[in-house]
Amino acid sequence: MESVEKLREELLAAVEAAADLDALEQVRVSALGKKGRITDQMKGLGGLDPDQRRETGQALNALKDSVADAIDARKASMEGAALDARLAEEKIDVTLPVRPEEMGRIHPISQVIEEIVAVLGTMGFKVAEGPDVEDDWHNFTALNIPADHPARQDHDTFYLPAPDGECDEGRLVLRTHTSPVQIRTMQNGEPPFRVIVPGRTYRCDYDATHSPMFHQVEALMVDEKTHMGHLKGCLEEFLRAFFGMDDLPVRFRPSYFPFTEPSAEVDIGCSREGGELKIGRGGDWLEILGSGMVNPNVLRNCGIDPDKYQGFAFGMGVERMAMLKYGVPDLRTFYESDLRWLRHYGFASLDMPSLTGGLNR
Ligand code: PHE
Repeated sequence: MESVEKLREELLAAVEAAADLDALEQVRVSALGKKGRITDQMKGLGGLDPDQRRETGQALNALKDSVADAIDARKASMEGAALDARLAEEKIDVTLPVRPEEMGRIHPISQVIEEIVAVLGTMGFKVAEGPDVEDDWHNFTALNIPADHPARQDHDTFYLPAPDGECDEGRLVLRTHTSPVQIRTMQNGEPPFRVIVPGRTYRCDYDATHSPMFHQVEALMVDEKTHMGHLKGCLEEFLRAFFGMDDLPVRFRPSYFPFTEPSAEVDIGCSREGGELKIGRGGDWLEILGSGMVNPNVLRNCGIDPDKYQGFAFGMGVERMAMLKYGVPDLRTFYESDLRWLRHYGFASLDMPSLTGGLNR
């Protein structure tokens, strides 16, 4: 039999000499594995007389423990060293200034949403959200658009496959507008409400001015004395701040939405001289968003007493606002992920829009 002491020296030296975790594992297998040297010695114990067997057995067990401990310790120190090395290598100095050659650009859709949120946020509106996959009830019925209502046809809805036996109201759709979040907001809280809802919306339509996925921002205000004057004041203020024109003409045209009564389409002033569209005083008009006083039926559907509360709501297309403000001619380019386009139309990532810091470049 090998001398236990000699074996200990050899194995501990091998543990120390192991250069990396793989080498260490090899040492472990060669000492403690099924065919390892210590295991081998243990097998030889049967041929010894009882006294010797006890003595050598104890010595081998102690050896086994000390080799296992040495391997664990070596492993821990290797892992610690590896972590230290990695930390040193990946160290970043967070006190350094931002590098001037910043590359990423903020997409105009994100930028315009931030701008809208900045203006309306200043007026006390808080951002609310809802799911892109809605049920029929939130997207239509609760908004005073029952199943047979002609307004449903205007929406080119993407319906999700209906599970067998599912009634129409539980049927899932990709929301066709952000208005269902009006319902969710009113159902889940107590008036007064003042929310804006930026989000994705979906309609089965595709050309230079329509995309099957697009973005809207909805606004909802409900309180005891909210009236049409508030709606007009809010929108005038919002549109003038958003387009950065104090004298931007704003016009309200009677219209129809099932969820508002009365309803108004909002136009802003523009000129179309020489085929070029320019926003501002120019004698012409451009439709920009839909609005109105929340229909009493909608309030009732959310358990709110329309004799006590009134509200206004409006909704606008983000792409349209972006195209008009920043002169983007084709809606489809928003989604092409073309880097050259993004470099041209995108925004510096550190220029967060705010009313005081600047909204309009
Ligand atoms: N939901 C309407 C649409 O998508 C916009 C709208 C919102 C109109 C709120 C009035 C009030 O066309």
